[in-house]
Amino acid sequence: MAMDVISVIRTKRDRGELTDEQIDWVIDAYTRGEVADEQMSALAMAILLNGMNRREIARWTAAMIASGERMDFSSLSRPTADKHSTGGVGDKITLPLAPLVAACGAAVPQLSGRGLGHTGGTLDKLESVPGWRALLSNEEMLHVLDTTGAVICAAGDGLAPADKKLYALRDVTGTVEAIPLIASSIMSKKIAEGTGSLVLDVKVGSGAFMKTIEDARELASTMVGLGTDHGVKTVALLTDMSTPLGLTAGNALEVRESVEVLAGGGPADVVELTVALAREMLDAAGIRDADPAKALADGSAMDVWRRMIAAQGGDPDAELPVAREQHVVKAPSSGVLTRLDAYDIGVAAWRLGAGRARKEDPVQAGAGVEMHAKPGDHVTEGQPLLTLHTDTPDRFDYALQSLEGSFDIGPAADFTATPVVLERIA
Ligand code: URA
Repeated sequence: MAMDVISVIRTKRDRGELTDEQIDWVIDAYTRGEVADEQMSALAMAILLNGMNRREIARWTAAMIASGERMDFSSLSRPTADKHSTGGVGDKITLPLAPLVAACGAAVPQLSGRGLGHTGGTLDKLESVPGWRALLSNEEMLHVLDTTGAVICAAGDGLAPADKKLYALRDVTGTVEAIPLIASSIMSKKIAEGTGSLVLDVKVGSGAFMKTIEDARELASTMVGLGTDHGVKTVALLTDMSTPLGLTAGNALEVRESVEVLAGGGPADVVELTVALAREMLDAAGIRDADPAKALADGSAMDVWRRMIAAQGGDPDAELPVAREQHVVKAPSSGVLTRLDAYDIGVAAWRLGAGRARKEDPVQAGAGVEMHAKPGDHVTEGQPLLTLHTDTPDRFDYALQSLEGSFDIGPAADFTATPVVLERIA
């Protein structure tokens, strides 16, 4: 079919609706390299500015799914359940959640990503476990899933290749934050992955892509609609990302905290969200007789974690890396910590070396920020509030700049608690 990309760009630039044929053609031609990056970035910017309706988003998603392979888990004896978070600071939930849900009877195929910008990536975190491998063939992935109940690994190159290319382009053209593009990007990968059910953790707040509850609602309901239309039972929780989750942001630091949760301890907000998401995943997978809180307490989730890590070459007993240098930020006054900003902490962790500026940059396993208080806690002047970790101490100044104005200490009356789970959309 003869099409030209300039007319597709002009349609969206002039606030028109793209036809099904235009969408199928442009995604296919971009994947094949016939549409150039600069043309696709103009189209992505037009979509960011002028939006897409539900039909366009559904077709765009279907075209991205069709750009690659679809996986098939129908040979597994257990129902599959997956979770996707839109990304946040200290969001290590996948680490305890996948083995927990597997311990309760579901199979959890968790295709995960790397961090870019201020949000961390699950694969970077797990790579701080000595020996652990993120890259598995489809056969290896199925084998780990079948034998341990859970697998966390990188998505293969064959899955939604159009999204791989487009996501990298959006990242460098200021077009990540478009709801139609985020929804289709996430859902094309999840639908192509072949999970039977999916729970979305849509983050809201300074450390998230969606800064307002209204935007988060729109993103969540768009994704739930896409999943449901493709036969995937999909539910979304809107959850708070105005402050970091837990007490750590950084790769090995977050693995350590996740292991604490699997051992029955860990920060209350991480445990609460892990259990809430586990309940949703089990419900969506049709498993009604399991109790995730019990599986954390009795060690069965920890058993799956150890088997899952070992099946991917990791040593669950190995010492985790520790950064060579530390710098402590002390509380400048006494009172209640009324605010601790997720975005600022995320940027500090990133600048300390936990994240990357470009896709190909390495990350430091030990770098990051350890928090010694959560909003609502009483702190005393001079007590450690944050410990910054890095192997490269020349990064401290730059990280400290991002922490200026990142917290408030005041009277208890100035503090309002925010629930971890804000809303549920099904
Ligand atoms: N995660 C994705 O996979 N895609 C997006 O567009 C945003 C977050």
